[in-house]
Amino acid sequence: MLVLGIESSCDETGVAVVDASGHGVPRLLAHQLHSQIDMHQAYGGVVPELASRDHIRRVVPLTRQVMAEAGLSLADIDVVAYTRGPGLAGALLVGSGVACALAASLGKPVMGVHHLEGHLLSPFLGADPPEFPFVALLVSGGHTQLMRVDRVGSYELLGETIDDAAGEAFDKSAKLMGLPYPGGPHLSKLAAQGDGAAFKLPRPLLHSGNLDFSFAGLKTAVLTQAKKLGDELEVRKADLAASTQAAIVEVLVRKSLAAMKQTGLKRLVVAGGVGANALLRQQLNDECKKRGIRVHYPELHLCTDNGAMIALAAGMRLQAGLEAPEKNPAGYTFDVKPRWSLAELVP
Ligand code: KG4
Ligand code: ZN
Repeated sequence: MLVLGIESSCDETGVAVVDASGHGVPRLLAHQLHSQIDMHQAYGGVVPELASRDHIRRVVPLTRQVMAEAGLSLADIDVVAYTRGPGLAGALLVGSGVACALAASLGKPVMGVHHLEGHLLSPFLGADPPEFPFVALLVSGGHTQLMRVDRVGSYELLGETIDDAAGEAFDKSAKLMGLPYPGGPHLSKLAAQGDGAAFKLPRPLLHSGNLDFSFAGLKTAVLTQAKKLGDELEVRKADLAASTQAAIVEVLVRKSLAAMKQTGLKRLVVAGGVGANALLRQQLNDECKKRGIRVHYPELHLCTDNGAMIALAAGMRLQAGLEAPEKNPAGYTFDVKPRWSLAELVP
């Protein structure tokens, strides 16, 4: 069973093909990615209309490359999967439109995939795949959630951000320090040269007694601190970056540990773009080791958006019998869900 996956929810066009035959973890045969970061950098953030147009330009050539790399022809594909949501409506429509057109021309079924399910399952493509059940910390540019995952398709929300996402906190803090988009990787690079204890920044909801997050106040505190520094900001920027990163990471680590305690589970999966953060990985590894908890990450290049995780999630759902795309009830009339909660997927 060969599954083609197309990701176009935000600023990366990703295409991949997996072999989901049998019951083992689907095998990644080829994947290609085009990041729009350079294009959006001039605007300091993602411009949705430009994102959609660029997906249109990239998706077919990337699909050709993937097929060539895998040594396959389109006729070999059994299911065409695409990111149905959440994400930018126009960007999602490009992937879904292309997926449906392709599937219709091949006479094959299509399957809409939840972007966060892709992130959450992405560690299964790594050298150290997790086993169910586990707690997942999903930390991306748009989401910050803790989920209990008992099997493919069973996602129980334990806690989530009540305002900004962790990635947003990185990106917005970086922006007001004058760092380029996307802020996360730039801020963390600068932070490596700074002192994380230099500035006392808030750890919102750290002691809230539940598993929710809040990052909007932190961004305001960073802004206040930057203003206070005035001309001194340039020479203290690395310290401010390190202090910001320390605050975000501490909250993510503490809440993850609280989720492990609450569920009693001994496996943690970290997924989404912020999962690439080196300090977060180091602190989670240290703290979890002390508690006998195994932590699993996607491979670094699969932390941020990509097509491989979409093809994988589709393949795993098919293997689990959660989808019967051969019936293709919606035909090729695609819809996208720019806002879509992962918990809604539960049957
Ligand atoms: O998962 P992702 O590629 O896209 C969404 O689905 O949102 O995540 C992108 C987010 C951005 O906010 C980016 O700044 C952040 O992940 N990010 C990082 C790092 N690499 C990417 N944040 C902190 N440290 C990093 N190394
Ligand atoms: Zn994502």
